[in-house]
Amino acid sequence: MHRLLVLSASTRSVSAGRPLAVWLAGLAGRRPEFDTSLVDLRSVALPFLDEPEHPAEGRYVHRHTKEWSAVVGAADCFVFVMPMYNGGFSAPLKNAIDHLHAEWRGKPVGLVSYSAGTSGGAPAIEMLRPVLGRVGLLPAEETLSVPGIEERIGPDGTFRATPACAGAAGSVLDAVAALTRAAGPADEPSGEQSARQPV
Ligand SMILES: Cc1cc2nc3c(=O)[nH]c(=O)nc-3n(C[C@H](O)[C@H](O)[C@H](O)COP(=O)(O)O)c2cc1C
Repeated sequence: MHRLLVLSASTRSVSAGRPLAVWLAGLAGRRPEFDTSLVDLRSVALPFLDEPEHPAEGRYVHRHTKEWSAVVGAADCFVFVMPMYNGGFSAPLKNAIDHLHAEWRGKPVGLVSYSAGTSGGAPAIEMLRPVLGRVGLLPAEETLSVPGIEERIGPDGTFRATPACAGAAGSVLDAVAALTRAAGPADEPSGEQSARQPV
């Protein structure tokens, strides 16, 4: 079984995307190939990056970074459920990625975006891809972008998926599972194995 971490990437108290992440994690949890956990970036509560050394060295001094390292290091693959803010990915998601390095490397990630507007946050996914490459994450080509997110939340606070949305989410999970099988066992996080490439 692949240990899948679904990351709800909004840190807002009123996040409209959190129900989407809960729904996605439920979908993954019903599949036999995944051992799924859901992590809310708001609960992780990372400050802006304040480690004295480059994360690629793997020598963390702050407890919050060590805890985040343990969470991410324990996963084989990820799905990021991410809002689009001002046409791009959100600062908290970038900050969460920047905190670590080896913990991400060689691991597949599925990308699910959402927005209030009609794009569903697809531009934020495309902006994020180069960042993912820098830490060695392996993004699946298949993506899901959900437009009009506020209208997709029912009175009970749950995400209401259309058949098309469920189909696309299934394709993302299929792709993450296939990439994880192909990637094989993940490297142990270690500064020694750093793939840091200053540019
Ligand atoms: C700072 C900020 C910027 C936003 N920028 C966009 C945007 O560029 N395009 C869009 O369609 N919606 C935009 N929105 C609306 C969000 O997509 C919508 O509020 C969504 O619910 C945010 O996700 P969250 O509630 O999970 O944080 C923005 C919202 C915020 C708070």
